[in-house]
Amino acid sequence: MTYQDASTRLAAYGQGHVLQFWDSLSTEQRELLLAQIETIELDLMQRLAQDWIHNEPEAEHFSKIEPVPTIPQAEASRADAREAWTAGEEALRAGRVGLLLVAGGQGTRLGFDGPKGAYPVGPLSKRSLFAFHAEKINNLQRRYGCTLPWYIMVSDANEQATRDFFREHNYFGLRDRDVTFFTQRMVPCMDDNGKFMLEERHSLAMNPNGHGGTIPAIIEKGIARDARERGVDTLSYFQVDNWALKVADPFFIGYHVLRGGEMSSKIHRKTEPRESVGVHCICDGQYRTIEYSELDIYPQLLETNAEGKPIYYAGNPAVHILAVPFVERVYANFREFPWHRAHKKIPFINESGDLVKPDKPNGYKFETFVFDALRFAHHDPIALEIGRVGEYTPIKQFSGDNSVEEAWRAMRDYWAGWLEAVGHTVKRDADGNAAIKIEISPQFALTQEEFVEKARGIKLPEDGDICIQPDGALL
Ligand code: UTP
Repeated sequence: MTYQDASTRLAAYGQGHVLQFWDSLSTEQRELLLAQIETIELDLMQRLAQDWIHNEPEAEHFSKIEPVPTIPQAEASRADAREAWTAGEEALRAGRVGLLLVAGGQGTRLGFDGPKGAYPVGPLSKRSLFAFHAEKINNLQRRYGCTLPWYIMVSDANEQATRDFFREHNYFGLRDRDVTFFTQRMVPCMDDNGKFMLEERHSLAMNPNGHGGTIPAIIEKGIARDARERGVDTLSYFQVDNWALKVADPFFIGYHVLRGGEMSSKIHRKTEPRESVGVHCICDGQYRTIEYSELDIYPQLLETNAEGKPIYYAGNPAVHILAVPFVERVYANFREFPWHRAHKKIPFINESGDLVKPDKPNGYKFETFVFDALRFAHHDPIALEIGRVGEYTPIKQFSGDNSVEEAWRAMRDYWAGWLEAVGHTVKRDADGNAAIKIEISPQFALTQEEFVEKARGIKLPEDGDICIQPDGALL
């Protein structure tokens, strides 16, 4: 793109100010700026400004909202669950399953200096979120004699750091050719008047286009093609910050493939109506996930039953399965995909060329959410209930709700149960919580059954913390 092209295009959309510092830029800075401008979908941005900034968006109105039908938590004592388990294992052995991790977020709330997946979550080993997920994959590949290609979505902001982290850790024992990084698109932030903002004189303030950005990225970055070439038709989607997540859970995969699913979800029971998770429900016959920030728009979603429990209980832990042909179909109509906006404090360069750090929200970030793809599924999507314990420990910040500290507590108590199952006495505090730090590598054991089988040969220390490493050695 030449300066002239950029200038003409931007001016046509009222964004000519982006080039205001052109004369003071070096050749390299000019190239960077032009390259960035070239990636912007100006039509889309104009539409978003029109719909979300110049006009106050109207909430969708639904005449009927119903709870989503769910499959109860899979237990091997139920015939349907056994059938699902067998089908899931078959799909894994046949190499039909790929793993789709979204790790392109900015991780602002955690405030960690590096990709969120590099966060040293292991309370004793300090192993990272990426390492834990990789250890689960190593375990499953060994168990099913299969390859689980791992597709990891990153963004321009963390791609290099993520690639370097994997290289430094030898891909955590996985084959590098089975780990593919791909970038999502970035979208420009806009100020309260719908104007693009500069974060430097030669660079626009931009943000990754949300985890929904995985849909176009899967197609545009050759992931769907790679999956098809490998015979993979089922993508097991997860988010980097769910430490406890069960990667490629055979129950979940089994229900999905047996029902010919296009997009499936796990759900967990909300404990109270205002819990800060999205809610799966059926709105005028269409499958939807309503964000928790929108609960007040649909007060019905806050209703409780006679026991005081949420009627719309299907919380969204952000664990899905996407069929490759479904992603291709949604991509073909991605223009119709909904966008969401967030009003944020966005540092920017003012007309004098100085950096301004605002103390109140001054602009908008636009994002897409993967769960919005559920409305495009033709078959009724599956919603499989899970318990939180051992499945869902989202990490958004260090302390408080959905935090590192909360996740440590939950996993420590979960693993304490495993230790007790092999006859070990775990010290507990007055509230019954484990009073030592515990960490068990998922490469060593993914389930309590596997742990019980393998831990026989290990001499556990009677006192103190317990950390079992991938090879079964104690730290
Ligand atoms: P969150 O929405 O919780 O965002 O992402 P975040 O980036 O982790 O943290 P905050 O909001 O800035 O504090 C949930 C998951 O979706 C991924 C994240 O990497 C995380 O795995 N994600 C989010 C993307 O891959 N791309 C995005 O544009 C946004």
